[in-house]
Amino acid sequence: MNNPWTKKDLLSLYDLSAEEIAFILDTAEEFKKVSQRKIKKVPALRGKTVVNLFIEPSTRTRISFELAEQRLSADIINISAEASSLRKGETLLDTVRNIEALQADLVVLRHSAAGAPNFLAPRVRCGIVNAGDGAHSHPTQALLDLFTMREKKGTLKGLNVSIIGDILHSRVARSDMWGLLKLGANVTFAGPSTLVPREFAAAGVRVCDNLTEALEGADVVNLLRIQHERQRSGFFPSTGEYAKIFGLNKESLKYIKPDALIMHPGPINRDVELASALADGPQSVILEQVTNGLAVRMAVLFLVAGCLK
Ligand code: CP
Repeated sequence: MNNPWTKKDLLSLYDLSAEEIAFILDTAEEFKKVSQRKIKKVPALRGKTVVNLFIEPSTRTRISFELAEQRLSADIINISAEASSLRKGETLLDTVRNIEALQADLVVLRHSAAGAPNFLAPRVRCGIVNAGDGAHSHPTQALLDLFTMREKKGTLKGLNVSIIGDILHSRVARSDMWGLLKLGANVTFAGPSTLVPREFAAAGVRVCDNLTEALEGADVVNLLRIQHERQRSGFFPSTGEYAKIFGLNKESLKYIKPDALIMHPGPINRDVELASALADGPQSVILEQVTNGLAVRMAVLFLVAGCLK
């Protein structure tokens, strides 16, 4: 495999070429095999220190980064906002410069401010891995989504992927969009017109506000969470009405292909954007997405660590 990777940071899929994205997915395939062995550990990051700086809540991303670091034999420090001097008013840049002064090699950052990782990356020597910044970007979530689709469907080229829900506030939708378009998939965004900006059509996305239309012909249906914490005004009349018009439920099954994948990045608002019966049903690959997140994050950490000066 020719290695095209030259970056010390992973900030956004927008920054990457199709070749770089495919290379991460190929590398993740190799790391997935490590987790299927009896001894699930390799020495790839032995002697490297990784700091997980999570300034916003997370279950899946935080745990799978930490587990990925352990499987790669890195030394690990976990910092939360509550337990750090960020609470005393220290800036993010000062925080990371102090972490760097302690010879950390990589910082995995989740932050509520869009662009926080992009701000830090050129200002520090250590590598910055974006674990989700505001409504901007969540590159490792998109990579695990792409990995799961490619694993299940063989290729992303020509795949019809419908992403449904709160697109406006979703970093996952934006990251999935860039990754899918670069690898040749057809992307549809659907949801209430207040939550699906028409501007995405300019990037090559089909935008619609009709669920049935979005489901017909889809190979993958990716449901997004209604992000109550990022919504400052009423974008739809009530959760019940949202569920009735845009939620995926048993009724929706007559419109989707029998072999279509049902995906969700988590956490799920059960019986709002996705009925429990479907989340736990035979077409759901939601927990496989979580499993694949580990392999993808091992690949990302391995590749960026290889480019540190
Ligand atoms: N998908 C995702 O980012 O989940 P967490 O917020 O739990 O990490």
